[in-house]
Parts: sequence; C-alpha cells; structure tokens
Amino acid sequence: MCGIVGYVGNKQAAPILLAGLEKLEYRGYDSAGIAVRNGDGETDIVKAKGRLSALAHKTDQGRAVLGTCGIGHTRWATHGEPSETNAHPHCSDDMNVVGVHNGIIENYQELKAKLMRHDYKFYSETDTEVEIKLIDYYYKKYQGTPVDAINHALVRTRGSYALAVMFKEYPGEIYVAKKDSPMIIGVTDEGAFLGSDVPAILNYTRNVYYIGDMELGKLTPGKVTFYNLDGDEIEKNPVEIDWDAESTDKCGFEHYMMKEIHEQPKAVKETLDMYMNDGKIDFSGLIRNPENSGNPEDKTTLDDVLKNLERIYIVACGSAYHAGAVGKTVIEQLTDIPVEVSLASEFRYCNPKLQKNSLVVVISQSGETADTREAMLLSEERGIPTLAIVNVFGSSIARKADFVMYTAAGPEIAVATTKAYSAQLITLYLLAIRCAELSKSIDENRAKELLAALNQIPAGIEKILEDRERIQWFAAKYANSTDVFFIGRGLDYAIALEGSLKMKEISYIHSEAYAAGELKHGTISLIEHNRLVIGIMTQKDLYEKTISNMAEVKSRGAYLFGLTSYGNYSVEDTVDFAVYIPKGEEVFAASLAIIPLQLLGYYMAVTKGLDVDKPRNLAKSVTVE
Ligand code: G6P
Repeated sequence: MCGIVGYVGNKQAAPILLAGLEKLEYRGYDSAGIAVRNGDGETDIVKAKGRLSALAHKTDQGRAVLGTCGIGHTRWATHGEPSETNAHPHCSDDMNVVGVHNGIIENYQELKAKLMRHDYKFYSETDTEVEIKLIDYYYKKYQGTPVDAINHALVRTRGSYALAVMFKEYPGEIYVAKKDSPMIIGVTDEGAFLGSDVPAILNYTRNVYYIGDMELGKLTPGKVTFYNLDGDEIEKNPVEIDWDAESTDKCGFEHYMMKEIHEQPKAVKETLDMYMNDGKIDFSGLIRNPENSGNPEDKTTLDDVLKNLERIYIVACGSAYHAGAVGKTVIEQLTDIPVEVSLASEFRYCNPKLQKNSLVVVISQSGETADTREAMLLSEERGIPTLAIVNVFGSSIARKADFVMYTAAGPEIAVATTKAYSAQLITLYLLAIRCAELSKSIDENRAKELLAALNQIPAGIEKILEDRERIQWFAAKYANSTDVFFIGRGLDYAIALEGSLKMKEISYIHSEAYAAGELKHGTISLIEHNRLVIGIMTQKDLYEKTISNMAEVKSRGAYLFGLTSYGNYSVEDTVDFAVYIPKGEEVFAASLAIIPLQLLGYYMAVTKGLDVDKPRNLAKSVTVE
C-alpha cells in the first residue's frame, strides 16, 4: 500500500521518479506526488489527484521539474480522502523537511496534539504530515544532524513506516528509515535509488540493499550509508536479485494481468525446478533461519520438522488464503496430517491453540501483508516453527520466517494475482507430497506418479490458454450480469473461492462462492431467471452431487456454466455452456481449473472497459491491518 521512490545522482530526478512510481502503481493509485530539489536550493513539490498519468501530464513527464535529487509517492488512502492536499510529499511550513511515507503512524493524533501546542499547523488529514513535522520539530529543537532528528522522532512513533525525507540544509541527500514497511536501495555510478519494491529500480540495478527495521540510511550520489537507532554507522552488503527488467514490462500484452496469466506455465515449471533434483523432491536446501534460533550452528531442515508433524496450520489473506484452502485439501488427501486453514486477520485475534509438533505455513506473494506477517510472528512467539511461501525475495515475511520456500513467479504487477497463486499451489503440492513421503502415507511409486502429474501441469495450462477465445466470447455475452454464483464441493469449492474473487475484484460484478451443498440453505432464494451459476466439477466422486445442485438451480431459471474435465461430456445434458480442462491427477485440478476462471474475470472486466490491472479501491500489497 502506497509506493515510495527516491533518486539522487547526476541525472534529472523527476523522470526517474515517475518511471519508478509507474512500476509501483500497483501499490496504490488514488493520487501521486514528487518533491525535487532544484538548482536554487529550493524544493519543488508537484502533486495530482488520480492516476500517476495525471502527475506525468502536469510535469510534462517529469521534464518540467529540474533537479537531480528527489522523492516520490503513489498513494492508497488510509487517513484522509484521495485529494491533492492529502497526497504526498508533505513538508514543514518553511520547507525545512519534506518527506514521503508508506505505512501507518498509529499515535499520530497524540503527536499532532503535541505539535499543535508548539504552534505547528496542519493542512491535510494524513498521519504523514504529522511525522514529517515531528522530524522538523526535533531537528530544530536539538539542532543535531538529520539522523539525530529522525531518530528522536522514531522513538516517539508507533506504527509502521517506510520514510524518505529531504532536509533543506542538506542538498543532494535523502534520508530513509523503515519499520514493518518495505524499502530497498540500489546504488550505481549514476546515482542512488530507493523504492518500496524491486521493480522500481530494476532498470538501473539488480543489486539491492535491504534496510532493516529501525535502521536509517543516507543516500548521496553513488553511495548509501546505514545507521542504527543510536546513529552509529552499520555495514550492509547488497543482494543480487535474479529478476530481469523485462519481467516488469507488458511485453506486447494489453494488460499485465493477461501477460501474467500467460506466464503461468513458466511460473509453475520454474517453481517445480527449484525443489526437484533428479526426478525427486529435494528440500535439503531448506534450513532453519539461524537468526530465529539464535544459534548460527543450527542446521535444522524443513524435512526434520515435517518428519514429526502432527498438524499444519495454513494462514494467509486474499488469494493466498484460497491457495491455502486448496493446500489443505491436497495435504489431507495425501497424508493423515490434519490441516487448519485460517484468514490471517482472524487467526491473530482468536487466541489460536497451536498444538505441539505442528507447523504454521504462511502464504504471501508480496511477503509484506501485515496480518500475515503478524500471524507468523505470533506463531513463532508461541514456539511453533513457521514456513513462509513467498514470492518476493528478501521481503519482511521471508526474512522473519523459520523456513522459506520461494515461488518462482517473478514480479507480479497486476493487482489481481494469477501466476503467483499458481506458483503457490505448486509449492503446496510439493509440500503435501513431501509430507506424504516422510510419513509413508504414499509409497515410492505413487510419489513418482504424482510428480509426473505435476510436470504435466504447464502443458495443461498452455492447452487451456489456446482455447481462450471461447471464454472471451462467453464473457462478452455475460458481462452485464449483476450477480454470479460459483459452486463446488471439496477441492472444487476452494477453486470456486478464487474464481469468484477473480471475477468480482476486477469486473465489479457481485459474485459469491458457495459450497454446493449449502445452496439450499438460503442462497437458492437468490436464483432467478438467467442468473449465471458456475459449477466446478473436477472431482469424480463429487461430480454427481454437484450436477444435481446445478439441476436444482437450473429448474429455477439459472443459466449454467459447467467446468469439468475432458471426457465428462454428459455435463452438457445439464449445463448451458461447458468448459473442459485436460484430465490429470484430480488432486491437482485447481491448477488447471483456475485458468478459465481467471480468463473469465479478465474478459468480463475488459468487455466492461474497466482498468483490469488497477481495480478501484484495491492495492496489491496490503501493509496495513
Ligand atoms: C491483496 C491482493 C491479492 C492478494 C492479497 C494477499 O488483496 O490484491 O491479490 O492475494 O492481497 O497478498 P499477499 O501478498 O500476502 O499474497
């Protein structure tokens, strides 16, 4: 939520800031702004309500704003409506301190009251303006360095922040600090760059520094210096990111979402390759984070934990939670280990009773979702090992988990996730098979069969994508639907949850996923003439039950879309429109069945002329609770 960027170097800053913000627009897009130090020692601040394109227009793509040192922000409103006044950057009245912020300052009202007693005035409704003025207050009060002033302010600040600040008396310098909100820094001969996420600086460098919580940094042309809370310098080494700049471009597709839908075979294959060796699952590289055990010699492997496992808790938000719902079914089908799956925002507050010999699996594309991170930390506090399934390297969750399984989806830009979800499924399948192997609930031959089936998934996805025009046609016909119901049982219900979310979040069509057996307990009263009902029927033993439920709604006027495997052609006796997925191991059907549903949501949104990649009110990375 919210993206921040910064640049100081030998080039004009504003176009670089705008290019960085464009890559971060998925984090928020209700307003944007930049602040650049011009050659006269003054700072120019330009802001615009609405998409980044409004700011780009106002600044002639950045060309109209001169200067080589600046910061920028793209906003997802938390405190105060989207407006030019509430947009960042914010500054002290005398422009002594100018800054941008991602996160939430929880005690901002208390701090604001204190500053008002010292004659500070406030113009916006944001917590950020308070934080910037607090830094200004301490800078003037103690007359120390910018690092001292920021430190004084942070000691009094509760909440989360990634802050980038410029001081009038320190031209050519950007100061940064962070706690619980992401920030990375890159340095090249052309200058020093900062961003909330890797895509913002990937065009300039793949070597990035991760600034830790409660640490500060000073960016000057071609250099970054890090400090701890005492103001002492600390050493850090850059980490090489194996994403290339092209991976953040649309590569000829009209939308990132469609590009990412097409990248799913690759994301699946590359994720599989990461954990397979010589035709077998190889988790030997998954070793416990020594920082968590406090013992640098700790060589506990994930396999050690899986061997004695009596229960698994899966915790996540949004689509990652839906991947978890699939994971639960798959693990429970292949092993005797019971699995509980929870929404992170609920898990944290239900005083979870975590049993011994268990594992908490958190799933997060961004690795920054606040509720997921806090749920993971709570589990660790209670002595339960954690495994994070994460897409973004070096993200907060990845750094604090006991074990990390990265997904190899590459950068995902569209707000509605597709390829990261698919890569999460693969990781969960591997985890399920590995648990089954270690607990001997499957034999070697069955493991081989399952792994062979996993290897077929990329080709299966390709085949479905080839047939996408049928879905496009259907979407064009049904894009004016007002309510859609997705139904399924067991694994098919988990698929329905994600299919329904894909539709509603980008096409704004009200849709709901129902366990097919629940329909009769209320929802069926919503069925009327021509209401679209999408039935997912990939599981042989549940097929007849769900078909009966489909028939029940059909006889009440519903229009039926049936999703099943090739071969189940009798589905056409009941449904009005049938879509088939390649036959394979039923337990992995989610990976194929989700593809037509992603396409359906996509094409409905396109037909309605909506901004598919940036649906209203949403943000890709939800760093507030
Ligand atoms: C947002 C995104 C979803 C995502 C969810 C969880 O709502 O729009 O696509 O599934 O956050 O995010 P995470 O990064 O933790 O997977």
